[in-house]
Amino acid sequence: MNREQLAAPLYKALRRHLEQGYAHLHVPAHRQGEALPSLLKQEDFFQMDLTELPGLDNLSSPGGVIARAQELAAQLYGAQAAFFLVNGTTAGLQALLLAACRPGEKVVAARDSHRSVLAGLIFSGADPAFVVPELLPEFGIPAGINSEKLAATLEEQPDARGVFVVYPNYYGVAAGLRDLVGVAHAREKPVLVDEAHGAHFPFHPALPAEALAGGADAVVMSMHKTGGSLTQSSLLHLNSRRLSARRVAAALALLQTSSPSYLLMASLDLARRQLAVQGRALLQRTLELAASVRAELGKVPGIRLLTEDCLPGSLKGTGEERVLDPTRITINVRGLGLSGHQAARLLSEKYKVNCELADYDNVVAVIGIGVNEEDCRRLVHGLREIAREEAQPGRRLPAILSPPPLPRKRMTPREAWFSPARAVPLPSSAGFVCAEWAAAYPPGVPVIYPGEEITPEIIEYLQALKRNNVPVAGPADQSLASILVIDE
Ligand SMILES: Cc1ncc(COP(=O)(O)O)c(C=O)c1O
Repeated sequence: MNREQLAAPLYKALRRHLEQGYAHLHVPAHRQGEALPSLLKQEDFFQMDLTELPGLDNLSSPGGVIARAQELAAQLYGAQAAFFLVNGTTAGLQALLLAACRPGEKVVAARDSHRSVLAGLIFSGADPAFVVPELLPEFGIPAGINSEKLAATLEEQPDARGVFVVYPNYYGVAAGLRDLVGVAHAREKPVLVDEAHGAHFPFHPALPAEALAGGADAVVMSMHKTGGSLTQSSLLHLNSRRLSARRVAAALALLQTSSPSYLLMASLDLARRQLAVQGRALLQRTLELAASVRAELGKVPGIRLLTEDCLPGSLKGTGEERVLDPTRITINVRGLGLSGHQAARLLSEKYKVNCELADYDNVVAVIGIGVNEEDCRRLVHGLREIAREEAQPGRRLPAILSPPPLPRKRMTPREAWFSPARAVPLPSSAGFVCAEWAAAYPPGVPVIYPGEEITPEIIEYLQALKRNNVPVAGPADQSLASILVIDE
């Protein structure tokens, strides 16, 4: 045997990670078992790692206990039907596109859609018409799409098969869904919602309204992110006559593994039960912790928090309506003269505090149902110390350029995916059709998509990101020296 085979690098890294004793301000919400449903905590996990045995039903054609568990999930969330997902929200979003669109058919989509939507567009062959979200200049982040822009896009695309939106986004902004639904339904278009970050919404009135209550036709939510189930387990809900449940089920049976984990499915069943029984109390505590973190961080000089007041008037809630998830804390550190990446690295390395996300301007902490007071105390302490010891208030980080306008589309993402491609130097790529996507965070809105024409403005923007060490997601060549284009 090759002695290298004695190594188990991933396992070792996980063990090392656990020994560090990090504070957890990130998903999954169960926080290493602390908020796992109590019934699941009592079980011997390995004994439950089973397969389709008598009495245990079958995820791809459920008719027994899985069907019943899905019915209970649909009932709790107020949907006509729910589907268990073991390949994350990713598989659910792909299935919705595959069920709703045939090759060449139009779909209107928010430009800040998750990358699984790109996969869904490639699988289905659908032709996207994008709506660019509003941006919050001080945080650089997207804040949802404007209903007037959606209406204008639907006027141009009267045959669109549906409208795809993200609600809430990664930063917890959950704005304007009812208006978008109103615009889409007036034209009989189904609204498909990526609610990956909103599985906890229905269980406390201080949270934004859930997408189903806002009239969404289909919703996919990552129960693992905020609902307390195991990583990779999600729910897809249908609540509409505008989409065929049969086609969605068929698409899921094609896309998901044929060996679904009973641990993941049992965790969905028990997380649903826990939210039904204790969701309000769990979230009350979570909201209190989040409020105290917000209050403490609000006093730290140089730090700015994303609050509802930061949202433009058109996206603000009315009265009791909430348009920002208070458990998602977006911490802008620009005033400290640090980038979000630098602050997150300091938090992790020096203070052993891990957050969910860092981008150029911000660090995002998630106060999930498993987070404890100690996690919160350490987050506040770490940021206070960073503000005191590491801040360089005189240093002004270069402002990120505004993203360039959307380029011209020359082919669908599917046509681009299946066309021969080659790498060309980025500086001389103008006029070529791009074969890959590229997005910087913030705003997390792709500047180029497969099938779109590269413009001089896009090249300039990507080069500016590179100069400022802003990571760009998507391109195979992470140095951005070259970019993949269609070999025409
Ligand atoms: C907005 C959004 N949509 C979809 C997904 C995919 O969800 P999952 O990880 O459950 O597949 C993510 C994951 O981070 C996301 O942030």
